[in-house]
Amino acid sequence: MAANIVPDEPGQPPKLTQDTLANGAPKKIAADQVVNPFEVSGGVDEAGKALAIDFDKIVRDFGATPMSPEILQRFERVTGKTPHRLMRRGMVSSHRDLDKMLDRYEKGEPFYLYTGRGPSSDSMHVGHAMPFELTRFLQEAFDCPLVIMLTDDEKFMHSEKITIEDAKRYSLENSKDIIAMGFDPKKTFIFSDFEFVSGAFYENICMIAKHITINQIKGTFGFDDSTNIGKFHFPATQSATAYATSFPHIFGPDKLKTRNIPCLIPCAIDQDPYFRQCRDRAEKMKHKKPALLHMIFLPALQGPGSKMSASVNTSAIFLSDKPNEIKNKVNKYAFSGGQDTAEKQRELGGRTEVDVPYQYLTFFLEDDTELERIKQDYESGKMMTGEIKAICIKYLQEFVAKFQERRKQGKTAEEVMNELEERKKLEKAMKKAQISGDKTANAAA
Ligand code: TRP
Repeated sequence: MAANIVPDEPGQPPKLTQDTLANGAPKKIAADQVVNPFEVSGGVDEAGKALAIDFDKIVRDFGATPMSPEILQRFERVTGKTPHRLMRRGMVSSHRDLDKMLDRYEKGEPFYLYTGRGPSSDSMHVGHAMPFELTRFLQEAFDCPLVIMLTDDEKFMHSEKITIEDAKRYSLENSKDIIAMGFDPKKTFIFSDFEFVSGAFYENICMIAKHITINQIKGTFGFDDSTNIGKFHFPATQSATAYATSFPHIFGPDKLKTRNIPCLIPCAIDQDPYFRQCRDRAEKMKHKKPALLHMIFLPALQGPGSKMSASVNTSAIFLSDKPNEIKNKVNKYAFSGGQDTAEKQRELGGRTEVDVPYQYLTFFLEDDTELERIKQDYESGKMMTGEIKAICIKYLQEFVAKFQERRKQGKTAEEVMNELEERKKLEKAMKKAQISGDKTANAAA
């Protein structure tokens, strides 16, 4: 970015200082940014400083479409709903084929939502909750079926430590958190891979696996010859959920019809490699390409350019944190863009671009006018660091408290799993009916 050089006197060239020169110089990069499901880093400059993730680069390199005011206006026109704050404020940074889903919605043609989580720990943090919060809103806006996949098999394959039992337990625990995000229970199907891979779903997994070569997976995910083969195979599983034919119990058994029902996938940007693969071969397999909404990460307490980590307690606010824990973490660890002293703060103001409490408010505070007022007061030095932290704490506590309330009222894990069993039975019964139906048809012919 060009340095912001202002002439000292009108008509005179600006004075160059060390500072402006340094700002104007292109950054020398020592390590490039990496964003894939297994590694997320903005890269490192020559001085060893971690760089923020460049989301535009992802749009440039991988051909996603940046979100635009036009498509947000169209979303509002078509659904009659103000776009969610995560959409209004750029956290949904890009998309693939959202316009096509809006076309379908306008014409009353069906589609479904698909999202998921890799259950790698017992507890989820507020960063994990953001794509689910967006999905909840989209389900309300489109009033459509939603499928939520828990990839316990993926986490088992990718971790040295996680056992199958661990992964299944994480699935169960996480499913309770996810359900408490507030989806329409009548239109939501949540499953764990270890429990659900079978039947039509497994048939699709195999069909997709047959279309993918080792070379393609190596190129997309950076695996090599010493990577276990489970990792090579798993992308077929994640892709199969993007085909409606995997879920006859939801969409019916007629594959010729259901293969024309596409899905819209809200996900964190690091999941894009999976779905690029999927989109590349969907049409060859006579299915519709999935559409995507990409989200950026909620930064860790330590600052922009990072993401919350479930294994680093001080980096994240957990959905199970008590009000006091939230307060202490924000006060103690949240990276501040404020000045060192109150005097300097009044003179120079706070830097909202790097201030974590302000960044969090953009994710959690709904009221646009209130957010703008906070921004102006903080940047102008009217508001102190302690004050913006206190406001941030209030909204985080509110979000987490509402979540915990729903979680308390929600289903137990046993109920969730029983429901899954019921669904499996239903699917089997439907399949049986179909087979005997086919037989009758043959006999008639
Ligand atoms: N692989 C994802 C993870 O590790 C889980 C996942 C599966 C997912 N399907 C998805 C996430 C669809 C978003 C959308 O978290």
